[in-house]
Amino acid sequence: MPASAADRALKRILSRDNQARHVAIIMDGNGRWAKKRGLPRTAGHKEGVKAVKRIVEAAVEAHVEALTLYAFSVENWRRPRIEVAAIMHLLYETTKREMREMVEKNIRLTAAGDLDGLSPRRRQILLKAIEKTKNNTGLTLNLALNYSGRAEILEAVRKIAAEVSRRKLALEDIDETMFAGYLQTDGLPDPDLLIRTSGEYRLSNFLLWQTSYTELYITDTFWPDFDRAHFFAALEDYQKRERRFGRVLDREGRPRKS
Ligand code: IPE
Ligand code: IPE
Ligand code: MG
Repeated sequence: MPASAADRALKRILSRDNQARHVAIIMDGNGRWAKKRGLPRTAGHKEGVKAVKRIVEAAVEAHVEALTLYAFSVENWRRPRIEVAAIMHLLYETTKREMREMVEKNIRLTAAGDLDGLSPRRRQILLKAIEKTKNNTGLTLNLALNYSGRAEILEAVRKIAAEVSRRKLALEDIDETMFAGYLQTDGLPDPDLLIRTSGEYRLSNFLLWQTSYTELYITDTFWPDFDRAHFFAALEDYQKRERRFGRVLDREGRPRKS
């Protein structure tokens, strides 16, 4: 079989040493994908699940360490009930169906978001998959579900405040590293790359603390159309970026001090 353009891109990505370790994706445009075809919005979500499967496989191929997928925001409860029910149904059906494959592919499932706000039966399915895959050492697949960046930060603040008031923590102990440890992404590096599909230029309350120096990649492609080649194009684009973190770099990309 001849190598496709995507295969060649993958080879280039793997040959460089500045690979993105953690990629986060705002999977957007399911509704518009469906509308364009005269289909109900739920058909777009169904097709979006296929894209999730493709991109998880592509992330494994590209040796990405962590992939955080924004699956459902706290604000998404404001949608019509029937659409919310359809998204939730798809989420849990897929988790159940894909459990064996996650184990086979050495994928570790984790979640960010308020899981207590989900129905007990569905939370159980998710927790079971997380438990079953917790010792896997391949890709960390982190699902942001019932997630809000601001709520996550507030929750960390409350926990820290409680420990300070019980004198378990001193004010001087609070720094960026320890604060990050109280977030729902504890243990993951900050995302190197954030992809948003469907051409929207906003964060929509996603990973507000963690994205302070994340590289952004926005594409007009709707999520259900996003494929392996699109994903590799984003990873290659990332590898061409110069991440300065506020500094001035010399020609070799080293920080310049004088
Ligand atoms: C993203 O697609 C999926 C979720 C938010 C769950 P949308 O449903 O937001 O699609 P558009 O933005 O309406 O096209
Ligand atoms: C962000 O997409 C949430 C997810 C992809 C799960 P939305 O479609 O909900 O975002 P807004 O409302 O357009 O900002
Ligand atoms: Mg949207």
